[in-house]
Amino acid sequence: MSAHKIIIAIDGFSSCGKSTLAKELAAKLGYSYIDSGAMYRAITLYFLRNQVDYSDPLHVLDAIANISLSFVFNEQTGRSDMHLNDEDVEPYIRDMIISEKVSEVAAIREVRAFAVAQQKRMGRKKAIVMDGRDIGTTVFPDAELKIFMTADPEVRVMRRFKEMYATNHNITIDEVRHNLELRDYIDTTREESPLRQAPDAIMLNNSSLTREEQLEIVLEWVKDRATNPQHVKPTS
Ligand code: CDP
Repeated sequence: MSAHKIIIAIDGFSSCGKSTLAKELAAKLGYSYIDSGAMYRAITLYFLRNQVDYSDPLHVLDAIANISLSFVFNEQTGRSDMHLNDEDVEPYIRDMIISEKVSEVAAIREVRAFAVAQQKRMGRKKAIVMDGRDIGTTVFPDAELKIFMTADPEVRVMRRFKEMYATNHNITIDEVRHNLELRDYIDTTREESPLRQAPDAIMLNNSSLTREEQLEIVLEWVKDRATNPQHVKPTS
């Protein structure tokens, strides 16, 4: 039986390791990896730099008309970097100043319509792993494999703290905890495509799994979906 190229949708709360898993899966399978959160972060950077009043949908639409987003492969890191209007914005979009505002920006209907339309286009040829909050529910409701990731809140706080502390020694654990709680709250309660587990998504709690263990588990699921497309449950 031949292996089909599939779409892998990974959703879940902030800092539960979605991007680590997604990158490793994509590398192993020779698929593209798309970090949909980076797109919302880049849009937030543009709004902050240009003082866009994002409570006004007309200002939002005007601003969006001036934004072009692309992922550009970086030979040195072997990863794709987020470019905003041809500028590599990877060095800025993970800063706390962006994390503090990104969920408000990502809750705006016009912002989501803009990002989701591009994400859908990226999946036309399949062979893609995309992580985010609404990938299995809205962007790719027909994805062959949907994973909903979670991890214990304190595990998530410490993982993100260590990551941010590496480049910013002023960051505190409380700041990180507050930001994760705030983003999870906004992401799960917003009106536009809130973070939800799709009915046909498999739950993966990785609190006590190593990277290698979680990759091994998910590769089995991929093998199953890629060789037996009939195992995919219909979404409706
Ligand atoms: O920090 P973390 O890696 O967990 O988050 P991210 O994937 O970089 O996403 C940053 C923020 O963008 C999230 O907290 C959401 O508010 C928003 N987002 C979204 O609304 N939909 C997506 N598909 C991806 C991210």
